[in-house]
Amino acid sequence: MCGIFGCTGRDDLGEVLVEGLTTLEYRGYDSAGLAVVGGSRAAPELRLVKRAGKLSALRSAVDGQDLSGTAGLGHTRWATHGPPTDRNAHPHVGGDGRLAIVHNGILENHEALRAELAGGVELASDTDSELLAHLVAVERDALAREAADVAAGAAQSATVGASVLGEATRRALGRCEGQFALAVIDARDPATIVAARRGAPLILGHGDTASWLASDVAGLIRHTRDVEALMDDQLAILTPESVSVCDLGGNPTRGHRYTVDWDVEAAEKQGYPHFMLKEINEQPGAVRETLLDRFDEHGRLRLDEEWVGDGELRRIDKVYVVACGTSYHAGMVGRYAIEHWARLGVDVEIASEFRYRDPILNPHTLVVAISQSGETTDTVAAAAHARDQRAPVLAVTNVVGSTLARAADGVLYTRAGPEIGVAATKTFLTQVVAVDLLALYLAQERRTLLAEELGDAFVRLEGLPELLDRVLATGDQIAELAAGLAHRDYFMFIARHAGLPIALEGALKLKEISYTHAEGFPAGEMKHGPIALIDDGGPVIALATRSHVRAKLLSSIAEVRARGAVVVAVATEGDTEIRAHADHVVYVPDVHELLAPVLSVVPTQLFAYHVATQLGRDVDQPRNLAKTVTVE
Ligand code: AGP
Repeated sequence: MCGIFGCTGRDDLGEVLVEGLTTLEYRGYDSAGLAVVGGSRAAPELRLVKRAGKLSALRSAVDGQDLSGTAGLGHTRWATHGPPTDRNAHPHVGGDGRLAIVHNGILENHEALRAELAGGVELASDTDSELLAHLVAVERDALAREAADVAAGAAQSATVGASVLGEATRRALGRCEGQFALAVIDARDPATIVAARRGAPLILGHGDTASWLASDVAGLIRHTRDVEALMDDQLAILTPESVSVCDLGGNPTRGHRYTVDWDVEAAEKQGYPHFMLKEINEQPGAVRETLLDRFDEHGRLRLDEEWVGDGELRRIDKVYVVACGTSYHAGMVGRYAIEHWARLGVDVEIASEFRYRDPILNPHTLVVAISQSGETTDTVAAAAHARDQRAPVLAVTNVVGSTLARAADGVLYTRAGPEIGVAATKTFLTQVVAVDLLALYLAQERRTLLAEELGDAFVRLEGLPELLDRVLATGDQIAELAAGLAHRDYFMFIARHAGLPIALEGALKLKEISYTHAEGFPAGEMKHGPIALIDDGGPVIALATRSHVRAKLLSSIAEVRARGAVVVAVATEGDTEIRAHADHVVYVPDVHELLAPVLSVVPTQLFAYHVATQLGRDVDQPRNLAKTVTVE
């Protein structure tokens, strides 16, 4: 949800900022812009370029312009207040035009602030963010007056880290309600960037001769691996030589500093036409990584960090999984494994609804919060609500140091590497595998599985990467199928049992990137209404791998075929009988039915991908979406 990138200490700011924004564009692509403090040393000035549309529009606009300078900020926008136009693009300028701000988040008291500023400033946009720029300018002017009073012998004026811009920003934020990750530059303080966060991510980069900031580490790894995640209600002052952090009360403190181990190549396309296709193909390796080194020296399964004691885990009597979108579907798959192996009741909840229905939580309720980014506001808020009720929270996330990881009692990391395509693929698969691991871990701690059974289940998980390679080999067949069906205007996905989340996920993926209407249904529900949608030739994709309810699924397939549906079945290798029930069959290898979703989801990802490319869609940056949703 909006990408922020900033640098102080590099002269070639135009190129550096556009390159930084390129790695963050997946966060929002309604408009893009940048501001640098350029001009001469004697008379530094603010230079601003911004354009509606994708980053390519900004790239063309900056071509040939002198955007060298001392400090600069860039922004890619996912619109909340005001349509995606040039004037609403960030950065926004405040005061006399020498100060610029980029912002990710929502100011909840924007109406009151707008009314307050109305008499004194002329607003140039419809955004809430511009108000911030003016507020900082107002505070900076107030500080200048205080400084003049000091010079005239009045009381000392207090500033954060001896930075007037820092103090002005701190004071301005004291008047703001809502969420923000923001950064400010000012031509009067040409090599300084001030940054702050509450509820939206911001990562600082420590370099030898330059300092950086970005909405996520993917933007920074080209420049530094020494990073510091700013925490909520912290403010940072960056100069080329230093990064200092204080809280919003002005007291010195620190963020969460760590070293990033992702490599630069992992965040590039490496010859694939789209990130999504690359990431689908990376799934065997991602699953392998997620399973690596999961046993301690006593042969016991372990999570990534020490957390609630064994005794406490044995007292857990209920599990809630909270997540959004694709992560929610991963939680749905995990429910089958936790209930079956650990014998614990599991409810899987949409995170944005969870806390508002007053769920019954206590120290014996385990809340598993799943989020690839670890920044999804709804999921972070659901986890915070659970912790307020003293329920232990385990985060399942792909991002070390993310808000969710830091807010939880324990973390289970998926190790998928950076995922750039807006549609989640490899992070989904690794989430499913991570929750399977959690199910086995709970079974171990609660002693609901014998050591032998646990070992067998883990060995099955370890076999998945090789089987995934075989599923990926169906790519050409799926591309051909997609070419034949791409122009249909409605798709149904049906399944039962552990296949159901894959029906929902397959439909979500297809909607997301092809803009074609698609829905997933429990096959048994078809006859209760959705079957009315079937007409002659309407495509139905059936997740029909081996399971104890396969015969029941075949009945549902027969019912839709009797009404003219064209059925594509994803079935288990060796199942020749399915040919009589489906028009097309895509085979995946045979595995335990609880693990089948890990394989059967891949044909649905490939199908969505090929339908979208057939329709000429922007696969990696589908319209209206953003990869990380940091607004409620
Ligand atoms: C996935 O393809 C979607 N882009 C979206 O549903 C996503 O899964 C959801 O926004 C949750 O994101 P998270 O995993 O980062 O919390």
